[in-house]
Amino acid sequence: MSLAKQNFSNVVEDALNQQIALEMVASHTYLAIAAYLGADSIGLPGLEKYFHGQANEEREHAQSLIDYQNKRGGTVVLQSIPQPSTEWSSAKNAIESALQLEKDVNKSLLRVESLAEEQDDAEFVNMLRSNFLKEQVESIAEISKLITQLNRVGGDGLGLYLFDQTLLKDGVQGVIGDA
Ligand SMILES: [Fe+2]
Repeated sequence: MSLAKQNFSNVVEDALNQQIALEMVASHTYLAIAAYLGADSIGLPGLEKYFHGQANEEREHAQSLIDYQNKRGGTVVLQSIPQPSTEWSSAKNAIESALQLEKDVNKSLLRVESLAEEQDDAEFVNMLRSNFLKEQVESIAEISKLITQLNRVGGDGLGLYLFDQTLLKDGVQGVIGDA
């Protein structure tokens, strides 16, 4: 039994473990997308690097929630991570699936936040709003802008090559400016 536990309901504790699992699913999916983009038949090193970075970020989100669970006196229960898809038809299609994933993660975070609110867990609500919800909205905006740029250049050929080289050399800000 935790000494630290106070005003931390089982409902919130379970929801937090579900969110940790979802962050790990996101990390694993981004690793798969990066691998797809780095295959010799696709060969887009800029996008490959970007999604490697995204995979690491999602792993850090999971770790940060693990640390928070422990801080509040909850019990961390990790879940198995399902095999991600490998069925993308193009680089653009893979990025579109990343946008959907970010929206799914956001939906789940909003659900956890409203559960914490129902339980009058002000500290958890505050942590989610300042550390997670804000960043989630920024990620959705960032990936949406990447898709817009990809549509602008045609999503293939020289346009895609230049898009990818810019992403490789200058990072995401080089392609979309500040998200
Ligand atoms: Fe995340």
